[in-house]
This record gives sequence, structure tokens and C-alpha cells, in this order.
Amino acid sequence: MDITFLLNGESVELRDVSPTATLLDWLREERGLTGTKEGCNEGDCGACTVMVTDARGARALNACILFLPQLDGTAVRTVEGISAPDGSLHPVQQAMIDHHGSQCGFCTPGFVVSMAVAHLNGDRNHDDVLAGNLCRCTGYAPIIRAAEAATDQPAPDWLRDTPPASLVQKYLSGGLGGRQPPSLSATETLDELAAAYAARPEATLIAGATDVGLWVTKSLRDLQDVIFLNRCTELQQIEETGDHLRIGAGVTMDRVLKAVKNLHPSYAEMIRRYGSTQVRAAATIGGNIANGSPIGDNPPALIALGATLHLRAGDHRRDMPLEEFFIDYGKQDRAKGEFVEAVTLPRHAPGLKVYKLSKRFDQDISAVCGAFNITVTDATVTDARIAFGGMAGTPKRAKAVEAALTGKPWTEATIRAAMAQMAEDYTPLSDMRASADYRLRTAENMLLRYWHEDQGIASNVLEVSA
Ligand SMILES: Cc1cc2nc3c(=O)[nH]c(=O)nc-3n(C[C@H](O)[C@H](O)[C@H](O)COP(=O)(O)OP(=O)(O)OC[C@H]3O[C@@H](n4cnc5c(N)ncnc54)[C@H](O)[C@@H]3O)c2cc1C
Ligand code: FES
Ligand code: FES
Repeated sequence: MDITFLLNGESVELRDVSPTATLLDWLREERGLTGTKEGCNEGDCGACTVMVTDARGARALNACILFLPQLDGTAVRTVEGISAPDGSLHPVQQAMIDHHGSQCGFCTPGFVVSMAVAHLNGDRNHDDVLAGNLCRCTGYAPIIRAAEAATDQPAPDWLRDTPPASLVQKYLSGGLGGRQPPSLSATETLDELAAAYAARPEATLIAGATDVGLWVTKSLRDLQDVIFLNRCTELQQIEETGDHLRIGAGVTMDRVLKAVKNLHPSYAEMIRRYGSTQVRAAATIGGNIANGSPIGDNPPALIALGATLHLRAGDHRRDMPLEEFFIDYGKQDRAKGEFVEAVTLPRHAPGLKVYKLSKRFDQDISAVCGAFNITVTDATVTDARIAFGGMAGTPKRAKAVEAALTGKPWTEATIRAAMAQMAEDYTPLSDMRASADYRLRTAENMLLRYWHEDQGIASNVLEVSA
């Protein structure tokens, strides 16, 4: 595939790039831009953070799980391009020096890029912004002090890149002498995507590559036939339709967070802990559903909300309740050539609460994720939809617990009786994240927590008391 992008302000055109060459490898090995570090090579440490600007604005992304074709038509800045062309420092770089924000320095380029992107975007929530950048020797206090100190300085003009027109677009519009793209691997419209996938159902769809990236960097899989979804803007729409919100499969988690912030604050708060700033800026809601993971964080919330999944194969579309999509571990109700187009959820669910339990508070995969959507009318439970991730081979509803609640008085006795039903619904596994017993106990206790919170008894999971 042929691509073009700006790299630190200079135009780059690449011919026949491998679909799964990572930006990190290319920067370090082909361009000698070794300021971008390789730490984990799986999206966890932020040492490889780069700034990518496209029509959506500037975002911090992890270069280790970013494939070169995803950059077509964007502007990329590495740490080498954060200081001014004359070499003078960006305010966050100066602040890192002034506040002693670096010791061994390995993490520092990644921090500087994350800080520069947040600085440009006026994002002052430094704890969230930097949750995806790991520092093991300086400690976070001086780094956060540096970020705070730079906040009020004006954003430098040299970071305001104008991304070039993509080469794929130029091919399609005949702007490159009417040449056809070598293969339609980066689809621009839904119809193109449907046709390309119907013709090549064995191809791997790549949206944000936060899962697929690891298949390449960690499992060393050789993916040749791929279809990139990131240029398909029709897949990235969020529409309000009456009482519902329809979210396109290609919407990234940072945008899902903003879309549900006021409607479903508890769901939004869970998303705040979904990966990191860099991961949320790449990961899509469609990828999180389609991968069928039993520990994906969106499905429990969406199932508790009664969401509808929209699938498309060629010209054929079908809808289903999301919970029916997950048939068994590793098996989803998705035919060859069929892709996730969107998911629709209700805009109103005042009883919804989502609890994510992970070993580390920020940037960790859930051991258990529970979503509770309970309606109480005149002190009686009139409706209960409860779903968990991490408790079975698929995201799954707690039907026995729901039955034990529905029609019963909204009392602690009802809750305790329903908690006892959790073992009817789930036989969780033990793994490195949690034991089976721990999962069952915590799932039960999440229901109790829901009740306590409803009674106005505050629970703070960040405080441990004996
Ligand atoms: C550091 C890190 C932290 C993470 N933290 C979390 C977390 O806290 N919670 C969580 O749930 N997940 C987490 N993940 C997992 C991952 O980010 C999510 O599953 C993500 O939403 C996947 O979306 P994507 O767009 O990156 O998918 P991709 O990697 O592009 O694709 C994933 C799978 O879905 C398929 N696919 C993608 N889009 C479609 C579509 N529209 N139709 C059909 N198939 C499609 C792909 O072919 C592939 O099989 C984390 C990942 C990393 C690397
Ligand atoms: S090297 Fe760790 S996030 Fe990329
Ligand atoms: S300065 Fe050493 S890891 Fe951060």
C-alpha cells in the first residue's frame, strides 16, 4: 500500500509498505529517530508515544501498535519534532528540566509527547493524560508538577500541523493520473468496506489495532490480507435517534466516553479507566465487541443497557440484542464477510452503574466488570438487567440474579438473597488476574455496593479499611 504523511513537518511518501509494519520500528530502524523508545511493545508503557494529527485533531498514540498504513493522510510528530525548528524547547520540556522530571530518562520522551499533546489541546487533567506513561525511577510528583507548570504557557505554533491529503483518496479521485489503488485495503465508505470484505472474507479487519497490533508484535503473526477501517468516516458517526444513541463501530473509546459522559456517568467513569489516553484514542467500540473477549469492558455495560448490535454483510444488514452475539468462548454470531456496523443504546438509564475491578486502578484489563441496570418503582424492583465480564467464557447476563430481584422489595434482604444466586449464573475460572472464588465474591459484593450507593452510603474503592 502507498501512503503519505507529514513527519515532524516534512512530507513523507512510502510505496508498497507492509500492512503490519509498525511506526515504532520504522521510526527507529529506517529513520534513525530513536528518541521514540521501545519499552513493552504492547501499548502498556507509553515509551513510544507519538503525536498524530488528522481531521479529528491531535492525539497521543502508541507507535508500537500503530501500523504505517493507519498514518496515511496524517501528520506525525515524534519527540524530535516537539522542540522548535531552531532547537528551542517546548514549554513542557523546559518544565521537565525545571522540576527535575527525569532521572534515567527512558520514559521521558514518551512523557514529553503526551504532555505536549495535552498542552496543545488544553487538557489539564494530568493524572488521566499520563496514566498510560510509566515511569519507574523519577516518580510522578515532579512530572505532574512539570505538566502543571507548563499549562499556562501558550501552545507553540510549530505543533499545529496541517495533515496532507491521503494517497488513497488521491488514487480514488484519479488525482494520481487515474491510477487505481493496488488493493482497496483502506476503505473510505461503508459500501466499499462491505464490498471489499464480501470479496475477501478471510481478510483481517483492522480498526484501532490495539488488539491486532499485539498479534503482530507479541504473537509474531504474519497478516498479509488486511482491510483498514480507520479511513471509513461513515463508521465513525454518533447519531442521536429519539431516545437512543447509535454509535458507529469505528468510534474510538475517547469519543464514546464524551458521548456517554452526561447520559451514563458511571459507564463513562469506567471508560476513563479503559486502557490509557493513548489506547482510548485508538481503540474502537466495534473492535472491543467484535473481538468477542470475555473481559472486554464495553459489552457488560451495553448488555445491561439492552443495546442492539447492527451487523452488515455485503448489502444485507441484520440487528440483534448484543447479548446474543456472544455464543461461546471465541465464537460470535458473525458470518464470513460480516462486520459490525454500529451499536444502539438507550439514552436514558438512570439506574445504570458499571464497576470495573482490576489489579491496578489505571490502565489494566478487568478481572471482573459488572454492569447493573436496575429500576425500582414504589420500593419494588420492576426491572433488572445485570451483566458481567470476566465471569464466564463470554460477557453474560446474570439471569438468576435478575429473577431473584425482579418483583421483590428493594431491601438488603432481597439483595442478599439475590447475591446467593450469583453461583447459579456463573462458574468463573481462576487465572493470573483473579481466582474463581475471588471473582464470585466480588461479583456478589458489587451488587451489595450498588444497593449501598443507592441508599446514599458512599463507597470508595480507593480506600482500604480493615
Ligand atoms: C494497553 C492496552 C490496554 C487495554 N485496556 C483495555 C481495557 O481496559 N478494557 C478493554 O475492554 N480492552 C482493553 N484493551 C483491548 C483493546 O483496546 C480493545 O479490545 C479495543 O477496543 C479493540 O478495538 P480496536 O479498534 O483496537 O480493535 P482492533 O485491534 O483493530 O481489532 C480487534 C478485533 O476486532 C475485529 N474488528 C475490528 N473492527 C471490526 C468491525 N467493525 N467489525 C468486525 N470486526 C472488527 C478485528 O478484525 C480484530 O479481530 C487494551 C489493549 C491494550 C493494548
Ligand atoms: S513500547 Fe510500551 S507502549 Fe509502546
Ligand atoms: S525517568 Fe527513569 S523510568 Fe522515568
